[in-house]
Amino acid sequence: MDSSRSRCCILLLVLFGISIQYQCSASGIDTNQAVLLFVNASEASARKIPDTLFGIFFEEINHAGAGGLWAELVSNRGFESGGSFVPSIIEPWAIIGDDSSVIVSTDLSSCFVRNKVALRVQVLCDIEGANICPGGGVGVYNPGFWGMNIEQGKRYKLVFYVRSEEPINLSVALTGSNGLKKLATTTVIAANVSNWTKMLVLLEAEGTDPNSRLELRSTTKGVIWFDQVSLMPLDTYNGHGFRNDLFGMLKDLKPAFLRFPGGCFVEGDYLRNAFRWKETIGPWEERPGHYGDKWKYWTDDGLGHFEFLQLAEDLRALPVWVFNNGISHNDQVDTSSVLPFVEDILDGLEFARGAPNSRWGSVRAAMGHPEPFDLRYVAIGNEDCNKPYYLGNYLKFYSAIKEAYPDIKIISNCDGSSKALDHPADLYDFHIYTSASYMFSNANHFDGAPCSGPKAFISEYAAHDDAGNGNLLAALGEAGFLIGVEKNSDVIEMASYAPLFANTNDWGWKADAIVFDSSQAYGIPSYWMQHLFKESNANPSNSLIASAITWRNETDKNEYLRIKVVNFGSSTITLNISICGSENTLQRSGATKTILTSNSVKAENSFTYPKNVSLVKTMLEEVSEDTDVEVFENMDVGLLPYSITSLELLKNPPALWTAATASDLESSF
Ligand SMILES: *[C@@H]1O[C@H](CO)[C@@H](O)[C@H](O)[C@H]1NC(C)=O
Ligand SMILES: *[C@@H]1O[C@H](CO)[C@@H](O)[C@H](O)[C@H]1NC(C)=O
Ligand SMILES: *[C@@H]1O[C@H](CO)[C@@H](O)[C@H](O)[C@H]1NC(C)=O
Ligand SMILES: *[C@@H]1O[C@H](CO)[C@@H](O)[C@H](O)[C@H]1NC(C)=O
Ligand SMILES: *[C@@H]1O[C@H](CO)[C@@H](O)[C@H](O)[C@H]1NC(C)=O
Ligand SMILES: *[C@@H]1O[C@H](CO)[C@@H](O)[C@H](O)[C@H]1NC(C)=O
Ligand SMILES: *[C@@H]1O[C@H](CO)[C@@H](O)[C@H](O)[C@H]1NC(C)=O
Repeated sequence: MDSSRSRCCILLLVLFGISIQYQCSASGIDTNQAVLLFVNASEASARKIPDTLFGIFFEEINHAGAGGLWAELVSNRGFESGGSFVPSIIEPWAIIGDDSSVIVSTDLSSCFVRNKVALRVQVLCDIEGANICPGGGVGVYNPGFWGMNIEQGKRYKLVFYVRSEEPINLSVALTGSNGLKKLATTTVIAANVSNWTKMLVLLEAEGTDPNSRLELRSTTKGVIWFDQVSLMPLDTYNGHGFRNDLFGMLKDLKPAFLRFPGGCFVEGDYLRNAFRWKETIGPWEERPGHYGDKWKYWTDDGLGHFEFLQLAEDLRALPVWVFNNGISHNDQVDTSSVLPFVEDILDGLEFARGAPNSRWGSVRAAMGHPEPFDLRYVAIGNEDCNKPYYLGNYLKFYSAIKEAYPDIKIISNCDGSSKALDHPADLYDFHIYTSASYMFSNANHFDGAPCSGPKAFISEYAAHDDAGNGNLLAALGEAGFLIGVEKNSDVIEMASYAPLFANTNDWGWKADAIVFDSSQAYGIPSYWMQHLFKESNANPSNSLIASAITWRNETDKNEYLRIKVVNFGSSTITLNISICGSENTLQRSGATKTILTSNSVKAENSFTYPKNVSLVKTMLEEVSEDTDVEVFENMDVGLLPYSITSLELLKNPPALWTAATASDLESSF
């Protein structure tokens, strides 16, 4: 540990409505310290939290979607990833057989106009004659994204398009990674596929292997073309195509919003590779897919504009659509030529919100969602504020969107936290990636932010520089920062950690909240830290008292006072808490304490120890006397070194005589 960090006064309780007195020695490294925490829980010092304070940010980075949340098992299903010219490489597809038995190539004979590349498999061997096919036949296999996770008893939907002048007799199989262990097999026979023909096969696995592959083989001489080969598990969230375990980890965070689909992914290194929503909708077979040049991988865009909106709806989160504003990392469209880009985005808004009989709303309806999506936020670009055409382009988008959809809130890329923006906006974007200690000390960054005008959207925050693969230290720094976000939630409307996901096989950016491979996943300490903030989105009964919030469990209707404290130092701190001003009494019994800590700030989680650093909840014995009091005094709570502690105190139901003020109950703490 950096010793300068371990002095006594590193403890920062960032809060108002809370006053703190430090009693610490000059060195303080080994001595226990005592700190007084006074919580004034009176109504007058309470403030409502924004409904949307904490959410999530999904970017297609680290194979977060392709080979991640999007459950498609075939990688490069349309054979387009090598580019639209042929011959092209077909990786990760690979050939089964040798030069004497099979020749595999690509041509432009597909029936799909936006993705013309098809796979041509010329089988040289046969079932009889001089050149007999090897056992099982020859053809191709796809290993998925570093192995397909096939699980016993589960069913998988295989769809592919095929053409041949001869009758076909294909053997289709899911096998272990060496091709030997058969997990599911079937035969596809057709007498006449002289036209492109769609085949649909349901496979049920008879074994489990997280590193499986899909094989397509033939033992008959002739030429067979394949295109758009998809293998989807039937078991996805709501049948919507999201991998269940990863979806569940997002849902558990109770995100108030979902920002998508990037990030730099939205801009691209070059405009020609930017995310274009229109290329990602409609039947999946017809989507061209695109190369994400910033993070250097191809996506078939199965997870497209519609699926992102569906994901937000399934998470009960408000979608926040970040769109390309005619600017990439290396090229940009002059404001005088940006109009087609503006019209394209208006179409995208109509796709999300238009009536089912509108031009683009009807495309959405045809995809199975006649009701509009609840799209209320858009961001004009990502990190583009200083680009020459940003402001000009921004204003074109801004006025066109406000005219068509006056209620949509528009997010500017320019930082309005230190000085007022020189252009209209509802929110301004703010990104912070730094060291854990700098993150911690940035808890007060927004103390001086303008109170009027646009609110802050901290759409990307993370302790990055010294986070390792995602360690405790980073989570502590971020927790301190987030307490500052709560405290300043009169000027901050939204905040989200970044990035959300990493596939361990393409860990291009560290740290990431959730780490996974084909079959398993774990949350880093920062993921668990965020759980302590998930009640800090207002529902009607929540209010803010500094880092103390009150929140209501919508299931059992209980109300709680939650006090969060980060100890960013190496000493144990005794916190002596007094709470006054509560119109409703607090119950002495049933209080809990939830801690995130470890014996090392470098501690991380892993597949083997997914919860090495995670939340531990215990009863708070110090308040176990069963008398109810209106004032909590001198409640001592030990704060472990390098820890986040969350105290949860149950409020008694309001007494009858307070009924006169029942209309004020939402702020009654
Ligand atoms: C608590 O805060 C309220 C409102 O700011 C104030 O009127 C009251 O005096 C405070 N109570 C104490 C004990 O400081
Ligand atoms: C299909 O091919 C398999 C060998 O791969 C063979 O056993 C089977 O008889 C063939 N079926 C037909 C209908 O030709
Ligand atoms: C296959 O179908 C096409 C189109 O209907 C037809 O023209 C062709 O003669 C058929 N081929 C055979 C071998 O039956
Ligand atoms: C084959 O495709 C052609 C051209 O698209 C079409 O006219 C014909 O009806 C198709 N034949 C069959 C049997 O589907
Ligand atoms: C809310 O209450 C229900 C019922 O007691 C409980 O199962 C659930 O865990 C509670 N939720 C939270 C977030 O504490
Ligand atoms: C678990 O955390 C401890 C520190 O508490 C650390 O020493 C250890 O390496 C971690 N184990 C794993 C498997 O990450
Ligand atoms: C907590 O602080 C109060 C006020 O300073 C003091 O009177 C009390 O003795 C302290 N309690 C403990 C247990 O240290």
